[in-house]
Amino acid sequence: MFQKIKDNIYYAGLNDKDRVIFDELIPLDNGTSYNSYIVLGSEKTAVIDTMYPKFTKEYLKSFDDNGITKVDYIIANHGEQDHSGSIPALLEKFPEAVVVTNAVCAKNIQEMLLVPAEKIKTITNEEELSLGDKTLKFIIAPGVHWPDTMFTHIKEDNVICTCDFLGAHYIFDDVFAVPSKELEKSAKKYYAEIMMPFSSVCRKYVKQIRDLKVDMVLPSHGPVHKNPDYILDLYADWSDEKGKNLVLLPFVSMYNSTEEMIDYLAEKLKEKGIPSVKYDMVTGNLGDLAMALVDGTTIVLGTSMVLAGPHPAAFNTVYLASVLRPKTKIASFIGSYGWGGNLFGKMADMLAPLKLDIIEPILVKGKAKSEDCLKIDAMAQTIYEKHKALGLL
Ligand code: FEO
Repeated sequence: MFQKIKDNIYYAGLNDKDRVIFDELIPLDNGTSYNSYIVLGSEKTAVIDTMYPKFTKEYLKSFDDNGITKVDYIIANHGEQDHSGSIPALLEKFPEAVVVTNAVCAKNIQEMLLVPAEKIKTITNEEELSLGDKTLKFIIAPGVHWPDTMFTHIKEDNVICTCDFLGAHYIFDDVFAVPSKELEKSAKKYYAEIMMPFSSVCRKYVKQIRDLKVDMVLPSHGPVHKNPDYILDLYADWSDEKGKNLVLLPFVSMYNSTEEMIDYLAEKLKEKGIPSVKYDMVTGNLGDLAMALVDGTTIVLGTSMVLAGPHPAAFNTVYLASVLRPKTKIASFIGSYGWGGNLFGKMADMLAPLKLDIIEPILVKGKAKSEDCLKIDAMAQTIYEKHKALGLL
């Protein structure tokens, strides 16, 4: 059954407990939910966001089970199909309904879902739509995380549907969030994958939603926040430009030479009061790396050489870091080789858009010798000095 959020506002979403990976990229610890909300005004009924296509049948049945016989408006806050995918089926079920969205999303759903233009009402930023005793106000919010994203503020109830923004891949029985380490971890992984590339935009909308002093945040994945400050504070921290006193150590090591150097660097950093996170690029969970990228100020990537270049797993990590645009400010490389090649050049090129402060890399033939350990000592000292200069120590 639908769950009540406030008088005449209901949660109509579904849990996808079996989903183990999202975007075929980040493994999920807690499945996910696809949230849809029903707003029953005194004159009109609106559905805010719909359903992932796989669950369309179950979703449509829930309208019958809950006695919803009329839908006037389908609000599309975003065109990605985990929220818009059931629009065509919902339009078939409720032929009198009109899709309400912004111009960018309107184009997306016409092109991706073949929603006819005549079934779409296009709104502009801050435009309002009356449902009788309830008013929907649309806040166009490009960049969190698609250019077509918008929020819907239900004014009289002072709750805001934020689409993907402030969400989490998390399933639940009771729709209201109970703060926990698990929820925070899921929300952070989710932020890392889809929001971190747009951290400055996130800061803007965290402030805008704080200024609205809303009673609740209703995202499109994960539970509803009765205490908006809980998720807003987390997003404020994650999207802050200043990183933490933390070094990320992703590594791939064919004969342990590289891993031994990474371990040695971790020990030297620890002696200086700098924690580090070691991440195995072959067997690790990409979500853990993405989450560490949210906080880390420095990344030192260790790789063996394979066929005269970095191990492919190292390329994968460097590419992910370059597109997720973390707050990382300092980087370097440590590597081991058996014969010649260019171990670091291409990776440094891939990271160039991040404008990182690159510390002189360390390249060793086979295992590290005493002179190589001195170089790692010097790298740890340089990281210490740079973290101190950034006010992290
Ligand atoms: Fe949850 Fe951007 O879709």
